[in-house]
Amino acid sequence: MNEVPVIAIDGPTASGKGTVAQRVAAALGWHYLDSGALYRLVALRALQAGVAAADVAALTRLARSLRPQFDAGRVCLDGRDVTDEIRREDVGALASRIAVHPPLRAALLDLQRGFRCPPGLVADGRDMATVVFPDAGLKVFLTASVEARAGRRHKQLSEKGFPSNIAILLQDLRARDERDSSRSAAPLRPAKDARQLDSSDLAIDEVVAQILRWHGER
Ligand code: CDP
Repeated sequence: MNEVPVIAIDGPTASGKGTVAQRVAAALGWHYLDSGALYRLVALRALQAGVAAADVAALTRLARSLRPQFDAGRVCLDGRDVTDEIRREDVGALASRIAVHPPLRAALLDLQRGFRCPPGLVADGRDMATVVFPDAGLKVFLTASVEARAGRRHKQLSEKGFPSNIAILLQDLRARDERDSSRSAAPLRPAKDARQLDSSDLAIDEVVAQILRWHGER
């Protein structure tokens, strides 16, 4: 059994969980796992190799041979810095489509669990608390209204210099929510013992502070 403590933060797309999880990890001096980045990396490889979203065997092979290097907020794949590329909307959309395949998800399990190193891990995604780290000491399900999330995603993309349109973003978020929640493999849903936090009207700092308080109470 792995005794290294884990804080699992799950939630829908653009709920702010990535930023929150990174800040919680930094505050505690723990490691950080952005599990969505792994699905995005597989999607990027699939796009590059011309692998179709339905070709489960080929996608699973791509996932199994994935050896990303995370360092100081950057991610390298096959010797190339792909940090910004994997944030593209087309990569995110494909990530969500291929994440429905159980063999691909299974192929990423060991890679994800390998991030659990002392002194601790903060992991964010969709199934951190339900599938990957069911023994996490603190499980947080972070939500926000679809409008608040579209606004945040719009701001995030503009800051990166990617043009975006709120109406299209809203449509895309709803479609991704639907796909992430309705799939049969590891659907997006709170673990039974998760604490729910609605961040629609909270600043990032308030969300981080609440999670650190919950952690401190344990
Ligand atoms: O930025 P956004 O929250 O939309 O996505 P992300 O966290 O980077 O993850 C990209 C996609 O990977 C999501 O739409 C999910 O479908 C999938 N994913 C997953 O299935 N399980 C995870 N633990 C993390 C992400």
